[in-house]
Amino acid sequence: MSDHISIRPFNKPFLVIAHRGASYDTPENTMSAFKLAHQMGAEMIELDVQLSKDGVPVVFHDSTLDKKSSGSGIVSFYTVRDLKQLDVGSWFSSRFKGEKIPLLEEVLEWAKNKILLNIEIKPGAVEEKPGRGIEEKVIELAESYNMKNSVLISSFHYLALKRLKEIAPDLTTGLLYYKKTSNGLSPSELLKLYRADFFHCSRREIKKSWVEELRQTNHPFLIYTVNRPRQMRKFIRMGAFGIFSDKPDLLKEIKEKTE
Ligand code: G3P
Ligand code: MG
Repeated sequence: MSDHISIRPFNKPFLVIAHRGASYDTPENTMSAFKLAHQMGAEMIELDVQLSKDGVPVVFHDSTLDKKSSGSGIVSFYTVRDLKQLDVGSWFSSRFKGEKIPLLEEVLEWAKNKILLNIEIKPGAVEEKPGRGIEEKVIELAESYNMKNSVLISSFHYLALKRLKEIAPDLTTGLLYYKKTSNGLSPSELLKLYRADFFHCSRREIKKSWVEELRQTNHPFLIYTVNRPRQMRKFIRMGAFGIFSDKPDLLKEIKEKTE
């Protein structure tokens, strides 16, 4: 069923994507999570990126530090120097005490020639006004590590997607479906409007009619976040080009067994 899509960037028939790294077994969005995901055989790692106060792309999901670090307050109010003092492992387990927030640059350097990345630009990091923003910075970094063809850049913020394609038309982008800003447009209408390549959707929101439309318009779709075998099999059979999972080892095993 999944053979309908002719566009196959990254030369893979299906992507096992580690959501925030191997985030079931390690603290999310850390080098430990990325290294374990690679060892588990993930083909791509999804990570969340926002800007520090001094404008450096850093890897962290929440807009605030309180839950998942030793700090508190808004991430973008702190410089890289401050953020690097924080412990982002202990909240998960004492085994990860001393784990640091990674810079996007550090992840690119490690991932080069090793694994594909899905860089998700957090909506709060996108500036409404034009100027050199997170989109330019992420592209420049990917280019400087020769990783432009090994990254998929996604966002819930559609303005970011539009800008990414204006800056680098050959870049692969993923539109993260967000009902509130979709204005009732269908997946392929959204992809066309924002010139995005992939449709990323929550497992709770995907509809059969959308899958059919995406198949007809030849657009790959990817589903997050799927951690249960039964659901993994369901979305593989539905023709998803990739699945985001906190358990990439389990997803890989299920994919190998599912026709
Ligand atoms: O990119 C897929 C997924 O990560 C989007 O949601 O909140 O986990 O970043 P979130
Ligand atoms: Mg994410």
